Amino acid sequence: MTRIMFVCTGNICRSPMAHGVFLHRARERNMADRFEVDSSGTTAYHVGEAMDRRAAAELQHHGISFSNNARGFRNKNAGSYDLILAMDRSNYESLRRALPSSLHDRIRLFRSFDPEGSETAEVPDPWYGGRQGFVDVYTMIDRTVEAILDTYTERVS
Ligand code: 4NP
Repeated sequence: MTRIMFVCTGNICRSPMAHGVFLHRARERNMADRFEVDSSGTTAYHVGEAMDRRAAAELQHHGISFSNNARGFRNKNAGSYDLILAMDRSNYESLRRALPSSLHDRIRLFRSFDPEGSETAEVPDPWYGGRQGFVDVYTMIDRTVEAILDTYTERVS
């Protein structure tokens, strides 16, 4: 079992999109039982809120039904995750500050897995922008999720 936590700022746009896309793509590959995935935000501003309607609409547009109630990242549970994937640099730095150095090697930028990304590539915050931002974010999230699943497909267990 591999445990993955997706982290953004509010847990209303990027990390719930990654969470929903990951569950969907893992099910398509009959790999869902190999993972436990979750998402959360580095801030508490939106805790308890549903996903941003533009984020949910973008998932729906791709045939993915997913709903989420925003949660804050809990430092206490961090040790139970194999991978803690930060959507942007600011989320990454917040996690590094919050967690003991023994856990730092589990924290990575999500797009470090993106074949079109890099060790420093970010998923930009789409919250203040228009629909196109969500379309672009979906594209990079889906491509990166597929790449993450590929890395596990190539393993025996
Ligand atoms: P998310 O988007 O981190 O992708 O959920 C944001 C949502 C809210 C805020 C920032 C980003 N905010 O500053 O309230």
